Amino acid sequence: MNRIAIFTSGGDAPGMNAHIRAVVRSCLNRGIEPIGIYEGYQGMIDGDIATLGRKETANIISRGGTILKTARCEDFKTEQGRERAAKNVRDHGIEGIIACGGDGTFHGAHYLYQEHGIPIVGTPGTIDNDLFGTDYTIGYDTAINTAAEAIDRIRDTAESHGRVFVVEVMGRHAGFIAMDVGVACGAKAIAVPETHTDLADLAGRINEHAHRRTIIIVGEGDQLGSATDVSRMLKESYDIDSKVAILGHIQRGGTPTVRDRVLASRLGVSAVNMLLAGKSDCMIGEHAGEITTTPLNETWEKKKPLPTFYVELSSVLV
Ligand code: F6P
Repeated sequence: MNRIAIFTSGGDAPGMNAHIRAVVRSCLNRGIEPIGIYEGYQGMIDGDIATLGRKETANIISRGGTILKTARCEDFKTEQGRERAAKNVRDHGIEGIIACGGDGTFHGAHYLYQEHGIPIVGTPGTIDNDLFGTDYTIGYDTAINTAAEAIDRIRDTAESHGRVFVVEVMGRHAGFIAMDVGVACGAKAIAVPETHTDLADLAGRINEHAHRRTIIIVGEGDQLGSATDVSRMLKESYDIDSKVAILGHIQRGGTPTVRDRVLASRLGVSAVNMLLAGKSDCMIGEHAGEITTTPLNETWEKKKPLPTFYVELSSVLV
């Protein structure tokens, strides 16, 4: 291969820049021209494509966000959109692509390969950690540390005022962020989409102590609803007053942790190696310390299980 392209797509995740840097340096070390596609699939359709070098990727390893920008692209969901994208890829002499993102990104990559035969591998870049085939995704470690720091601050107020806080964290349909930060921050209860959440149980835990100074974590996607819904239901059904804190996009930004930088770098180098070895239509991940490949369709068809120990911890440590 003479030209390998990288793009980032879907929600940004801290560590994406370290990943881009690793791909670029890995290519340069092998005499391959690294190419950047800007704004994900939108840039592929619009031809927003340029050569990357050491200069473009200097001093970015510690930066959050993505220098290539990102987008959620509706046009790429159409055959015509993918047709235009594939033409641009060929016109630019791109022989292999690395798609860094989540399951939406991987759906697109899978179709691009199936319909146009363009060699493409995915790398897991999402704070949600919800992709089957890898223990961790790029950005997850930073996100949980950012969320934990924010919740520690909220705890100061909960303690000082004797208040109940219902804190909502991201995760779309997965409770990894909620469970990790809930355990790490000593939450009284953790509501996640993977398990049934019982409002009476939440209320019971809050009422265990005469002084209601407590933190409840609600993972986005929980069947009871948002943190705002849970707070309202606690008031309506149990006369429990609570404050709501939605951490939102602060979880996606900021300086990546060391773990995210190392994972992003390792996956970047491995993705280039895999493309050169003829791999395609698969995600490059890390499992039990080893680099793995998983067919792209399995990354969303198979559900990554939430380790059961979290449920035990969250019920024992309250
Ligand atoms: O990046 C993944 C994610 O953070 C999900 O947890 C969340 O549901 C979603 O992105 C929010 O996306 P957007 O920024 O497009 O609203």
